[in-house]
Amino acid sequence: MKFLIFITLLFNLGFAAKVIPLNSSKVCQKCHPLIYKEYKTSMHRKASIFSDEVHKAIWDKHPLKKKNKYTCKKCHTPVDKDLKVLPQKNSAQLQNPISCVYCHQIQDVKEHAKSNENILTTKRDTLYGARKSEKNKHDVSYSVKSSFFGLITKEEGSPFHHIDFSNENYYSGKTCMGCHSHKQNKHHFSVCETDFQQKGKQNCIECHMPKVPGSFTTLKNTKTHRFHGFAGVSQNSEMLAKYVDLSFIKQSNGFSVTIVNKAGHELFLHPLRLAQLRIKISRSNKVIFSKTESFKRVIGIDKKPSPPWLATNVVKDNQIKAYEKRVINFPFKLQKGDSVEIIFGFYKVDPKMAKKLSIQNNENLKFHLLKKLEMEVQ
Ligand code: HEC
Ligand code: HEC
Ligand code: HEC
Ligand code: HEC
Ligand code: HEC
Repeated sequence: MKFLIFITLLFNLGFAAKVIPLNSSKVCQKCHPLIYKEYKTSMHRKASIFSDEVHKAIWDKHPLKKKNKYTCKKCHTPVDKDLKVLPQKNSAQLQNPISCVYCHQIQDVKEHAKSNENILTTKRDTLYGARKSEKNKHDVSYSVKSSFFGLITKEEGSPFHHIDFSNENYYSGKTCMGCHSHKQNKHHFSVCETDFQQKGKQNCIECHMPKVPGSFTTLKNTKTHRFHGFAGVSQNSEMLAKYVDLSFIKQSNGFSVTIVNKAGHELFLHPLRLAQLRIKISRSNKVIFSKTESFKRVIGIDKKPSPPWLATNVVKDNQIKAYEKRVINFPFKLQKGDSVEIIFGFYKVDPKMAKKLSIQNNENLKFHLLKKLEMEVQ
């Protein structure tokens, strides 16, 4: 039975395709349906101007648009090899601007000042994977070994592709750094930067692609697979809430709230984001104190905010840094029985900016709660 299924699959997929096309995420769905389903919702699949309204809104204002030069392609739609001038509605742009194969063929990341570069493998039939027990194997091809006169068969590898388990970058998370490390504008100013400092075991993969229930392939029964919806600010942020601690201490002349960032990088990375701490104190069911603190990295020219392509310096930055413990004091005296509500969350796009870009009505741009504390003062 298994063999029959296997034959059918080979028939459907056209076995031994030597080169796996970059633009072929849909093919992977057959054997990796859970991963494909998650990928479909991820920002990697929605990174083009056709699927990401925010990216489009900034691009529409970008001076390079008038020059017909979509330089965003390097990271947002690297799979669209045909792209010469402006993005067209083709399958790469719409279905997999950053595809399964693209990510799984990044052999190395070359560092440059302006932005890093992904070097793809030239072995186009091979995909990189990470499995500690197989780390010494750089070319696993499909094999079926039978014993007891064919009564017991053992399959190894994938009938569709070769696997290379030996690339360290898929264990360390360096494979993310071709696109996520930094991006300089033409004034040699880093518009965004992921200055990651690892402490302990967690790297980009462990936090943003945690192991979740369900087998990674239909041809094998594993308990878990790596989450491919990519938890971040656009979706699944609740999966990351545990890396932010929120605590409250009552003092004689007021109270303090502490935010601890355990992410290993600045808590929010893109200059469009606005994080907020919102405090509300009620006494006898009436709100008697409320306050909002905002956290943001503002870029611009000298002391004035500007679009990213003009920026030359950081105007203001109170974003919560890697491993920082931020204590905020509130000189408001609490009484026994007061109820305290503390919310920490973010806007994906600072509402002022969203208005300027005319995208303020987008549901995804509402305030997003990351952590909440509620208690009664003792
Ligand atoms: C060096 C790689 C790189 C290049 C080149 C690049 N980006 Fe990005 N961009 C990223 C990454 C990585 C993210 C996700 C960052 C994050 O969420 O913190 C991103 C996110 C964005 C976002 C936020 C999207 C959202 O949904 O919130 C906007 C807007 C954006 N980029 C605009 C552009 C434009 C416009 C260009 C071209 C002029 C461009 N980017 C070029 C890597 C790049
Ligand atoms: C943004 C990059 C990226 C994209 C896009 C991506 N992957 Fe992955 N994938 C990874 C990384 C990193 C890992 C973790 C290391 C490893 O096991 O290779 C991983 C793990 C896997 C695994 C390993 C098994 C497990 O435990 O989950 C499979 C299978 C896989 N990916 C298939 C796919 C398929 C199929 C797609 C498209 C539907 C896809 N990937 C899209 C980066 C990516
Ligand atoms: C015909 C079924 C089939 C198709 C189609 C298929 N795979 Fe696989 N893939 C497998 C099997 C089976 C394994 C596990 C092999 C093993 O464990 O020995 C695997 C393993 C992997 C791994 C390594 C898993 C690890 O543990 O790190 C990656 C990455 C991967 N596939 C990505 C893809 C991508 C991307 C595509 C689409 C281009 C794809 N696969 C298409 C069957 C398939
Ligand atoms: C080919 C370039 C590229 C690679 C490689 C890549 N990313 Fe991304 N990633 C992007 C871009 C571009 C975006 C933003 C898309 C958008 O919002 O339009 C993004 C978005 C994200 C987001 C979502 C941010 C949000 O808005 O919620 C997360 C999380 C993320 N990437 C993590 C990773 C991790 C972890 C890896 C490595 C396994 C990785 N990425 C590899 C380009 C890349
Ligand atoms: C210890 C866990 C942890 C590790 C390790 C980690 N992150 Fe994050 N990351 C977070 C948290 C927490 C947030 C903020 C909450 C959110 O985005 O919902 C975040 C946010 C992000 C975002 C969205 C930020 C924005 O402004 O759009 C991107 C992109 C991202 N991380 C990429 C990476 C990359 C790339 C690495 C590896 C260099 C990495 N992260 C390592 C926990 C982690």
